[in-house]
Amino acid sequence: MDKQNKRVVLVTGATGGLGTAMCKKLYEDGYHVVGNYRSKEKSEPWLAEMKKDNCHVELFYGDVSDFDSTAEMIKKIERDIGPVDTLVNNAGITRDMRLINMTKDDWNAVINTNLNSVFNCTRNVLQGMMDRKFGRIINISSVNGQRGQFGQTNYSAAKAGMHGFTKSLAMEVAKFGITVNTISPGYIATDMVMAVPEKVLNQIVAQVPMGRLGGTEEVAHLVSFLASDKSSFITGSNYSINGGQHVY
Ligand code: CAA
Repeated sequence: MDKQNKRVVLVTGATGGLGTAMCKKLYEDGYHVVGNYRSKEKSEPWLAEMKKDNCHVELFYGDVSDFDSTAEMIKKIERDIGPVDTLVNNAGITRDMRLINMTKDDWNAVINTNLNSVFNCTRNVLQGMMDRKFGRIINISSVNGQRGQFGQTNYSAAKAGMHGFTKSLAMEVAKFGITVNTISPGYIATDMVMAVPEKVLNQIVAQVPMGRLGGTEEVAHLVSFLASDKSSFITGSNYSINGGQHVY
């Protein structure tokens, strides 16, 4: 077992479509995988499913949109499992509607879960990474943070904000052996994307040169690469993975 195989990876929003694929891939690649969840109804069936697939993941409750809940969760993980070497900020929600119909709650829920969570989680693992002179922070953004999307002012603002965070933090922590990168997936076959009205989704897929949705495992491979030693000179970058939907 090489050195990277003992590293602890925390994936937030682990029970979602992308999170599940990431946990499986990272486990397969030899990491000690810790998942975070918020919905208690989802966690038990999810763990049973992972066990059936021979994938060993430890699951910890925490509301990453809340700083204190996140701090408490990370303290527990570090006490029970060990220091977090790699953090994948993956938790996210949508509340799609035109801004003219958006309430303060719809705005705040998305900003808190998708963007403030990145601060909440990173702030609570960063000192340890700096002390140990190693860290990987991978922020899961979106093509819609790069190009905008009708009905997603809240989501696009949060996702664009994540990459600003990535670029600035990358500069601050490079000298500590910590890399910080963003992945911007396009439309991937997850429950979140399948909730888009069928007619609208068909129109979106028609704009993707590859003519299909992405697979969750296609994103998971990139996460595992960015978590590994092979990516050690890559920081402050944004990786598009969208089938050619947005090129620039
Ligand atoms: N461009 C221009 N006009 C549009 C439009 C578009 N893309 N979509 C809707 N409209 C117009 C309609 O034609 C209609 O106009 P008129 O009133 O003049 O006829 C008006 O907007 C209707 O707006 P409503 O507020 O009544 O809303 P709606 O019920 O039609 O729903 C919506 C609007 C919520 C934006 C819906 O179209 C939708 O869900 N769109 C998908 C948004 C999307 O792609 N979300 C991604 C989710 S997955 C994800 O986020 C993962 C990831 O990272 C990629």
